[in-house]
Amino acid sequence: MDFNEFKGQIHRRFGLYLDGYKETQLKRRIDSLMNQLGIRDYAAYLRLLGEDAAQWQRFIDKITINVSEFFRNPEIFARLEREVLPGLLARHKSLKVWSAACADGPEPYSVAILLDEQAPMARHKIDATDIDEGALAAARRGVYPPRAVQAVTPERLKRYFRREGENYVVSEKIKAMVNFRRHDLLKDPFPGGYHLILCRNVVIYFTAAAQLELYRRFYQALAPGGVLFIGATESLFQYRELGFEKVAPWFYRRPGL
Ligand SMILES: C[S@@+](CC[C@H](N)C(=O)[O-])C[C@H]1O[C@@H](n2cnc3c(N)ncnc32)[C@H](O)[C@@H]1O
Repeated sequence: MDFNEFKGQIHRRFGLYLDGYKETQLKRRIDSLMNQLGIRDYAAYLRLLGEDAAQWQRFIDKITINVSEFFRNPEIFARLEREVLPGLLARHKSLKVWSAACADGPEPYSVAILLDEQAPMARHKIDATDIDEGALAAARRGVYPPRAVQAVTPERLKRYFRREGENYVVSEKIKAMVNFRRHDLLKDPFPGGYHLILCRNVVIYFTAAAQLELYRRFYQALAPGGVLFIGATESLFQYRELGFEKVAPWFYRRPGL
């Protein structure tokens, strides 16, 4: 069985669509997992994945790099805080937000903290999705090592977290603001009507064609006037073609309201 057929089988049997991922990177990761297990051919590996839930979780973990942290790239989050959110809140009493590919949760929780500071009385709706159930389970627990909260100010640490040994636990109030659920960006239908969508540090794994399609669908998922926030190392070159206006580097708006 060659790599293409392996990808096809993974899609048919497990519903995971691997064609949207950059092939060289993906193959390197999968080959390294197989090497660690001493497995030489894709057919044998596929059988193992079907039989052994722990191996399937390892496979998912390898493809989905779950690294995240609160206020990742703090200088860019500061723009969200000072420029983007006040503009959106001037027009809408409460915001509908989507953190797409949220990993284990720091990103949507960071937005929840900002919204609690800027518009505490409103009923915001923050959806946070990821393909990886393991990451989502960790997100719902909301327990983080010091590394994940290094960009959180001491005031926010005090107000929105409690200590549990070495770790920091997100407050119940912030947890209650975020709904986590599984969603595959390359396959599942997109919800709509969002004032803010964050999609950061995941498209780097996708092919150029998959990225373009994704941005097209994010445009549709935004309410008029809604803003898309992308990763620090990413750039939306075709933003005009797609209909977006550039608000600032990393922030693109669907024109309207
Ligand atoms: C590096 S993390 C980014 C987390 C967060 N957005 C940030 O910037 O800190 C990438 C996440 O993308 C998720 N992911 C990978 N492929 C995906 C897909 N097809 N659909 C949804 N999420 C996906 C992974 O599970 C992982 O949690």
